[in-house]
Amino acid sequence: MAYKIAIVVGSLREGSINRKVARSICGLRDDDLDCSMVDIGNLPLYNQDYDALPQQPDAYVTFRDQVRSADGILFVSPEYNRGIPGVLKNAIDVGSRPYGQSVWDQKPAAIVTASPGSIGGFGANHQIRQACVFLNMPVMQQPEAYLGHVTDDSFDESGCLKDGPLKELVTKLAHAFHDWVDMIHRSRAALAEDSAHASQRSAKQQEHA
Ligand SMILES: Cc1cc2nc3c(=O)[nH]c(=O)nc-3n(C[C@H](O)[C@H](O)[C@H](O)COP(=O)(O)O)c2cc1C
Repeated sequence: MAYKIAIVVGSLREGSINRKVARSICGLRDDDLDCSMVDIGNLPLYNQDYDALPQQPDAYVTFRDQVRSADGILFVSPEYNRGIPGVLKNAIDVGSRPYGQSVWDQKPAAIVTASPGSIGGFGANHQIRQACVFLNMPVMQQPEAYLGHVTDDSFDESGCLKDGPLKELVTKLAHAFHDWVDMIHRSRAALAEDSAHASQRSAKQQEHA
């Protein structure tokens, strides 16, 4: 069964290289990862006053539902001024509230940043990671994905990565991300089973006591 992956792209630009990288990752693992892009461009700027409203903005409801129903989250983002693009930070904040109802909680995640520059969005990548750590999301550690020197020329006419070292790294990453999501879900299932057996054992012991 394929894992449902919500992809959050931190660029609204039509020809975004980050969106193309995200599509390539989906294409490489489409047998095991059922990916869908989550729209974040229509989210009103987060305002804590909304939390107290009986009816949340429609775009918030849709976005939170999409994230909540996912088995894993893939962030693919550019770096703006050495940090997270505002539109992505807004989406992260929207998903994190109202307090105690964060839809990010416990979702396994991976973070990819791509840039035409040589640092590959390192600054943005780590700011996203910092938010994920706070939001209790197990984030894949390796391979790290600061993709530098990515330009339109890195992709073919259909928007897929051309063969070469970048595609090789992204392929490795796509496989590692599947394995990461798989490991987290299997471990949780095993722990839940153990705990169910332990409760049954303890109930039987009490019956015989
Ligand atoms: C407001 C702004 C700030 C930027 N700051 C950075 C930066 O800090 N580091 C970097 O590598 N590229 C920076 N760039 C260049 C982006 O990496 C480049 O425009 C990239 O193509 C954006 O990603 P996208 O193609 O997915 O939209 C910046 C671009 C913009 C528009």
